[in-house]
Amino acid sequence: MPKSAIHEMTQLSEGIEDVAFLSWAKPTAGTPDHIKEAAIKAIAEDKTGGYSTPAGIIELRNEITKKLSKVNHIEASPGEILVTVGAIEGLAAAIMAVIDPGDEVIIPVPGYSTHIRQVLMASGVPVCVPTVEEKGFCLDVDRINDAVTKNTRAILFSDPNNPTGSVYSKEELESLAEIARKNNLVVITDEAYEYFTFDGYKHHSIAALPDMKERVVSSFTFTKTYAMTGWRVGYVHASKELISQIKKGHITFSICAPVVSQYAALGALKASQQCIDDFREHYKNVRDLMCSRLDRLDRVFEYQMPRGSYLMFPKIKLDEGKDSLAFAKRLLKEARVSTTPGVAFDSEFHVRMSFCVPEKMVNTAFDRMEDCFS
Ligand SMILES: Cc1ncc(COP(=O)(O)O)c(C=O)c1O
Repeated sequence: MPKSAIHEMTQLSEGIEDVAFLSWAKPTAGTPDHIKEAAIKAIAEDKTGGYSTPAGIIELRNEITKKLSKVNHIEASPGEILVTVGAIEGLAAAIMAVIDPGDEVIIPVPGYSTHIRQVLMASGVPVCVPTVEEKGFCLDVDRINDAVTKNTRAILFSDPNNPTGSVYSKEELESLAEIARKNNLVVITDEAYEYFTFDGYKHHSIAALPDMKERVVSSFTFTKTYAMTGWRVGYVHASKELISQIKKGHITFSICAPVVSQYAALGALKASQQCIDDFREHYKNVRDLMCSRLDRLDRVFEYQMPRGSYLMFPKIKLDEGKDSLAFAKRLLKEARVSTTPGVAFDSEFHVRMSFCVPEKMVNTAFDRMEDCFS
């Protein structure tokens, strides 16, 4: 397995003083106080020192079913929920459960590189199908259809997308669902950024489409929604049959999600959801600032306006962009700006930039890049 370019850049950035970070996909805001207080209360009541049931505490799974019904239009029972160590562990366990060695998994790209690695770790074969950059990195449904073979077992994607910021329309998801039904495929989703869409674009869960619930594994997380990266708590929804298989991997990976974090997550779901609106508003403002600063550097970059997530994937117009790692290293060394090279997502001529940062960070980064390219 090759070294991750994301982590290589993070390591290199750590060695440099006063770096403007546009490379991290973690919210810079802290976890809201009411969520921390829910965790502290659970600790004080001595509820957190032991394992929970592997599927997760029942109070949390009950709240998750309410959220799934209200937000995702997925009618679920607590037996169809597995609380996991972030979305990542849920996805790893789901992929292990769904595919056998040699099975092909279709992944629209650019996509989240961890998905590809998870398929490889399960001895599967990632089949990367390019999206259409000029149309906002939308799905190329015909190419996905053509990529299906007798060995295809699943389609796996993040929506809203890391790294492109695309948000799939209901029509795109309906076409994917049709391919899945026709070829008896499982769909595995990563909906980590479900709440962060802008300009009237909406996130849709493919599991809510007719006849899809039984063939979709939907993964969600508290990480992005509530700025809880370090708490490591997320969840997966699937049919009872699939959940019982995914649970086998989940137990071998982790036994259960951290119990203190499960109580924090319960606190997050039960309280007002205002913090999500505040985060979304902040990300939209920073996205707009980043795009206006990119417009001033149009000799170097062109971009598709991100409709969701807090990430964007500008194209490098300069010839040197053909080695995106070298380009990102140059930005780091000469401008002290940390970005993630496109090669980390199998796409040279691009860098990923995160707008989950303070506005000041964006201005510093772009002031430096303007100097560097002047
Ligand atoms: C698309 C996507 N999925 C999952 C994760 C990680 O989620 P978690 O912290 O819940 O494991 C990330 C983090 O950057 C991500 O971008």
